[in-house]
Amino acid sequence: MMRTTTSSSSSTLTVTVVDVLLLLALLGAAAPSSVKGSPQCSNQANSGEIRPHSVAITEFGAVGDGVTLNTKAFQNAVFYLNSFTRKGGAKLFVPAGRWLTGSFRLISHLTLWLDKDAVILGSTKSDDWPIIEPLPSYGRGRELAGGRHRSLIYGCDLTDIIITGDNGTIDGQGSIWWDWFHSKTLNYTRPHLLELINSTGVVISNLTFLNSPFWTIHPVYCSHVTIQNLTILAPLKSPNTDGIDPDSSDNVCIEDCYISTGDDLISIKSGWDEYGISYGRPSRNIIIHRITGKTETSAGIAIGSEMSGGVSEVHVEDLHFFGSKTGIRIKTSPGRGGYVRNIYVSNMNLDGVGIALRFTSQYGEHPDEFYNPNALPKVERITFKNIIGENIKTAGLLEGLEGEKFLNICLSNITLNVSSKSPWKCSSVQGYSDLVSPETCAPLKENISPRHYSDCYSLSDDIWISSSNQNRGARWLSW
Ligand SMILES: *[C@@H]1O[C@H](CO)[C@@H](O)[C@H](O)[C@H]1NC(C)=O
Ligand SMILES: *[C@@H]1O[C@H](CO)[C@@H](O)[C@H](O)[C@H]1NC(C)=O
Ligand SMILES: *[C@@H]1O[C@H](CO)[C@@H](O)[C@H](O)[C@H]1NC(C)=O
Ligand SMILES: *[C@@H]1O[C@H](CO)[C@@H](O)[C@H](O)[C@H]1NC(C)=O
Ligand SMILES: *[C@@H]1O[C@H](CO)[C@@H](O)[C@H](O)[C@H]1NC(C)=O
Ligand SMILES: *[C@@H]1O[C@H](CO)[C@@H](O)[C@H](O)[C@H]1NC(C)=O
Ligand SMILES: *[C@@H]1O[C@H](CO)[C@@H](O)[C@H](O)[C@H]1NC(C)=O
Repeated sequence: MMRTTTSSSSSTLTVTVVDVLLLLALLGAAAPSSVKGSPQCSNQANSGEIRPHSVAITEFGAVGDGVTLNTKAFQNAVFYLNSFTRKGGAKLFVPAGRWLTGSFRLISHLTLWLDKDAVILGSTKSDDWPIIEPLPSYGRGRELAGGRHRSLIYGCDLTDIIITGDNGTIDGQGSIWWDWFHSKTLNYTRPHLLELINSTGVVISNLTFLNSPFWTIHPVYCSHVTIQNLTILAPLKSPNTDGIDPDSSDNVCIEDCYISTGDDLISIKSGWDEYGISYGRPSRNIIIHRITGKTETSAGIAIGSEMSGGVSEVHVEDLHFFGSKTGIRIKTSPGRGGYVRNIYVSNMNLDGVGIALRFTSQYGEHPDEFYNPNALPKVERITFKNIIGENIKTAGLLEGLEGEKFLNICLSNITLNVSSKSPWKCSSVQGYSDLVSPETCAPLKENISPRHYSDCYSLSDDIWISSSNQNRGARWLSW
């Protein structure tokens, strides 16, 4: 539903202006930025619907002693529940206990429900995580050429899949994988904890994810994904344990999560260099809000570095990152191609963060030598608004590409308590700013004025109101 947000300033507006806005909105004039405001994840799947059939994993011989390997029990349960997919689907109930398992597959119209004190434990034997094909948009495993280990919980070509519970836990026991990574004894790219490929109508909620071998939650080529109310934890120094990585996926909503891991907390991706360019599936219409967390090595929210299929229409609000290296980071490289455009980040609170805002245009890391170094990514229409930070080292390290400047970077109402003597470092960027302290770098110094509305993403459909009679300057109305 379309929502109007009445900001504190809106009381001075006449009803007529609001009515006109609503009318425009109803006419669809403002789409797709109409996701503005403080949206909620709409109920994109039937998470409320009770499945007509339910079985417990114990009915398939599973033993929750933390030692017995239950892969066959999970596989048999899912196989049995397959007969209910056309009858409203089914629920697989995992009761309290420690359920050791290797990788298993999910099916459509399934609810996987983990009770309080239920822990699904990933096997510490690499053979229990079979090898699968690389993703076409990556061309190879992300860390090693060739295939990759299949995720602990895996689904492909599914519709209507719910993974939820009463704060049960999915624990990848990743430390053995981190050791293999450090000792360079991996033969294939490490597995994710949960990966869904080419699936639609996905809900992942009310759970804790621990110690993923690699990225924790990876929806790729998916649509209509809702991720709510998760706790995602891995040691701050564990390698590449990203929290949530929406990849070549659209209509993704992530809210109310606490994430503390060894890499980016959330990273939006869309494929890698020539493989991502030719697969051509973007990530778009991504809503992220109310995320709290910590990453000592990486960013709270990242885009890239794999973004070759394009990333656009990303609305991020209400973030709190502390004790972290970077707040928001866009990472790309010559060879990636693609684009990052129409990104809106607002209401971010940072405490103890090295770099609040960062663009990296020479990230490197290519799948092979066949990438096209002339495939330059386009980065444009990036808005950062309402950001406060305490105990920040550098406000912005914004490095665009010499041959492809990052355009229409708009900064509004940003107040950072910064220790660095040169708080903003910018190159090959162009844009505008308003109410930024400490004072921003020269390429962004021009004030945001009405003629920049269409340049600054999501500020463009705000209405500029001069309340000159009150001499209180201008205001934004967000809606
Ligand atoms: C994606 O899944 C649908 C079924 O949900 C299937 O028809 C389609 O072929 C799949 N696409 C690919 C590329 O595998
Ligand atoms: C979050 O999940 C916990 C259980 O994991 C539940 O008690 C709580 O009500 C949930 N909160 C929301 C907002 O859904
Ligand atoms: C869920 O469990 C995790 C890990 O034990 C805990 O940190 C978190 O607070 C719990 N969440 C809720 C909503 O109870
Ligand atoms: C890699 O392959 C070697 C030789 O087959 C094997 O001994 C080793 O266990 C494998 N490593 C992993 C992490 O699976
Ligand atoms: C999460 O748990 C809360 C409390 O049990 C429940 O109200 C809510 O519907 C659950 N959310 C989802 C998406 O399952
Ligand atoms: C500036 O941002 C802060 C939060 O970061 C917010 O409290 C304040 O209302 C904003 N000011 C304006 C003028 O929008
Ligand atoms: C930054 O914070 C310190 C400690 O709270 C305070 O003393 C200092 O005045 C602040 N600096 C600015 C520029 O606000």
